[in-house]
Amino acid sequence: MNVLVIGSGAREHALARRLGTEGNRVSCAPGNAGTAGIADNLPLNPDDAETVLRACRELGADLVVIGPEDPLAAGLADRLRDAGYPVFGPGARSARLESSKDFARAFAERHGVPRARTEVLRTESDLRDYIGRTSGKRVLKKSGLAAGKGVLESSDPGELLSFGRSVLAGDVLLAEEFLTGRELSIFAVCDGTRRVVLPACADHKKPHPGNLGPNTGGMGALCPVPFAGPDLLARIEAEVVEPTFRGIAREGLAYPGVLFLGIMAAPDGPKLLEYNVRFGDPETQSLLAVLGGNLGDLLASAASGRLDPGAGAAAAAAPDTWACGFVAAAPGYPGSYPKGIPVEALPEDNPGRSLLFHASTLRDASGRLVTGGGRCFTAVGLGSTPAEARENGLAAARGIRFEGAWFREDIGSTV
Ligand code: AMP
Ligand code: GLY
Repeated sequence: MNVLVIGSGAREHALARRLGTEGNRVSCAPGNAGTAGIADNLPLNPDDAETVLRACRELGADLVVIGPEDPLAAGLADRLRDAGYPVFGPGARSARLESSKDFARAFAERHGVPRARTEVLRTESDLRDYIGRTSGKRVLKKSGLAAGKGVLESSDPGELLSFGRSVLAGDVLLAEEFLTGRELSIFAVCDGTRRVVLPACADHKKPHPGNLGPNTGGMGALCPVPFAGPDLLARIEAEVVEPTFRGIAREGLAYPGVLFLGIMAAPDGPKLLEYNVRFGDPETQSLLAVLGGNLGDLLASAASGRLDPGAGAAAAAAPDTWACGFVAAAPGYPGSYPKGIPVEALPEDNPGRSLLFHASTLRDASGRLVTGGGRCFTAVGLGSTPAEARENGLAAARGIRFEGAWFREDIGSTV
C-alpha cells in the first residue's frame, strides 16, 4: 500500500516505521529528521487540507493515517474522505469528543459513562464561588485542545483561581472531583460499526518521579499494563467502552479510526477521564513495539469499513512481551523551552532491545540535527518482563544527548 502518515511527532515516526517494515511505501507529512531515514517526507502543513489533498493525488494514496488532533478537529479527514480517499481518523463532528471536553462531558453523562462529578464554570464569579465552597484537591480543565497541558490538579485556592481565570479568558472551564486510583489508556480501533481493543498502556503524565509536577503530554509509557488483568479489562469494556460506543452509534458520531479512552481505575470502579480520537503519544511508541498482527491491514480495514473482529486477538501482545518508552524533553518543558538545540549523540537502534523515535527534529542549514519541540525523542526498551523493558529503555534514553536533555527515570516502575 501507498500510505500517507500525517504529523511530525514520535507517534508518527513509530507508525511510519511499523508500516514500512510491513512492506508499505510510506510518506510522512511533514515528518521529522527521523522519518526522513525511513519514509518520504513531504514538506507540507497538515492544517492546509487542499495541499494534503494534492499530495494524496500525486501519491495515489491507498490509506491516509492522521496522527495529531489539530487537523482532525479542523476537518482534514472530512475533506480527504469526500474526495474518495480511505482515511483513518474522524471527521470534525466526531473529533469534538476530544476537541471539546464540555461536549465529551455532556455526551458521557447522556450515555451513563461513569466519570468524575463535574461542574461547568462560565464566569469568574462561577469560579470564585466554586473555589469558596469546595476544599481539598480539585481538578480544573480547559474545554478546548491544549496539548495535554490544559489540566490543573491543585488544592491551592490561589493557584486554582489564576489557572481558572486564564482559561476563562477564552474558553469554558470544567471543575472536576479529584479521582484516585490507577490510570491507563485504552485504544479501540473502529470502522464505524465494529471495534477491536488493543493492548492497554500506562502513560506517565507528570514530569517528575513519583508522579509529581504539572501535567505534560506524557513522559513515557509501559505496554501492556501489569495491573490491568482480565477482570479489570472486562469491567472497563462493560462499564465504559460499551456505553461509549452505544452512545456514539446513537448520536451518529461513528467513524473509522481509533478512540482513545483515558481511564482511572478507581476503588469503586473504572471511570472515564477523557476521550481522544487518535492514537496517544507516547503510548503508540510502546504499543506498536508489542502489537501483534499487521498494522497496515488493521488501519486499512478500519478506514474502509471492513474491520475483522478477529483482528483484536491478532493484535494482542505476544505473551512475555513488554515495551517501556522514555521521552527525552527539552529544558523547561512543559513550560517554555528552547528549540533548535543541536543533538550531540543518539543511541543506535537495537531491534529486539530498544528503538528510538524522533519528535519534530530537523536538519538546520548546515545539516546538523536539531530539536524542534518540547518532547524531542522517545526511547523504547523491549523485554520479556516489564523490568527488562525498562532497563533497555533506560539504557537507550541515557544515550540521548543534547544540552539540557532530561527524562523521567521511573517510567514503568510505579505501575
Ligand atoms: P485529561 O486531559 O482530562 O486526561 O487530564 C490530564 C491528566 O490529569 C490525566 O491523565 C490525569 O492524570 C489527570 N486528571 C484528569 N482528570 C482528573 C480527575 N478528575 N481526577 C484525578 N486526576 C485527573
Ligand atoms: N499521552 C496522552 C495523549 O496522547 O493525549
